[in-house]
Amino acid sequence: MTLDGGVARAGGERPAGASMEFDGEPPEGGGPVAVRLLLDEASVQARVAELGVELRGDYEGVEPILVSVLRGGVVFLADLVRAAAMPCLVDFMAISRFDASEDTGVVRIEKDLELDLSGAHVLVVEDIVDTGLTLTYLLRVLAARGPASLRVCALLDRRARRIVDVPLSYVGFEVPDVFLVGYGLDLDERERGRRELLAVEDLEAVRGDPALLDLPTRPDGPGRLPPV
Ligand code: XMP
Ligand code: MG
Repeated sequence: MTLDGGVARAGGERPAGASMEFDGEPPEGGGPVAVRLLLDEASVQARVAELGVELRGDYEGVEPILVSVLRGGVVFLADLVRAAAMPCLVDFMAISRFDASEDTGVVRIEKDLELDLSGAHVLVVEDIVDTGLTLTYLLRVLAARGPASLRVCALLDRRARRIVDVPLSYVGFEVPDVFLVGYGLDLDERERGRRELLAVEDLEAVRGDPALLDLPTRPDGPGRLPPV
C-alpha cells in the first residue's frame, strides 16, 4: 500500500513542494513534520467497499452479529454495514483498560452487548489492532458465550507493535507505528469525524495548534498543486 499525502509542520511555515512521500526524511525548511495524510477518504472508502463485498460472500446464508467496540470502531462499522449490505445484526460494547500503564490487556466491560451470542456467527469490528492485548482479552470473553464462529475485521493493523498474536480474518490496511487520528480514531476524544486518516508525528504541536490537522487535506496545503 502506498502511503501518500500532504504534510503539516509545527511552526506554521508551509514551504511549497513538500514531499508527498510517507518516508521519514522531512523536506527542507519549515521544521519537523507534525501531521501527514496517511489515507485519504477515497482510499479508505475503496477498501471498506472491498471488505464489504468479501463479508457479503463469506457470510452468505447466515446472519452474523457485528460487534463494535466503542468508541473508535463505530465510524468503520457504520460504513462497513452499508458496504456489506447483507442481513446482519449490530451490537456495541464499551471497554476500558483497568490500568493503561499495565500491558496486561485486562479490560473492564463498561457496557456489555445486549444480544445473546450463543450459536451466533460473531464478527468483531475493530478500528485498530495495536499490541493485540485488548482484542485477545475481548475474544476470550466473547468465546465463553458460545458463538458458532468468532472472527475479527480490523480496519487498521499496526503489526509492528503486536505483543500477542491475535488472528485477524479481515484487515483493511497495515499501518506504521505512528499515532493515528480520524475515521473514528480520536485525539483526546476529538477529531473522530474526519473522513481521512492522519498520522500525527508531533502530538504536542497538534495539541497546541489543532489547525495543523487541516493542512494535509487543504487543496493549497503542502505537497498539493494549487487549484486551476
Ligand atoms: P491494543 O494495544 O490492545 O489496543 O491492540 C488497541 C486499541 O488502542 C487504541 N489505539 C488507538 N487509538 N489512535 C487512537 O485514537 C491510535 O493511533 C491508536 N492505537 C491504538 C484503539 O482504541 C484500539 O482499539
Ligand atoms: Mg478500539
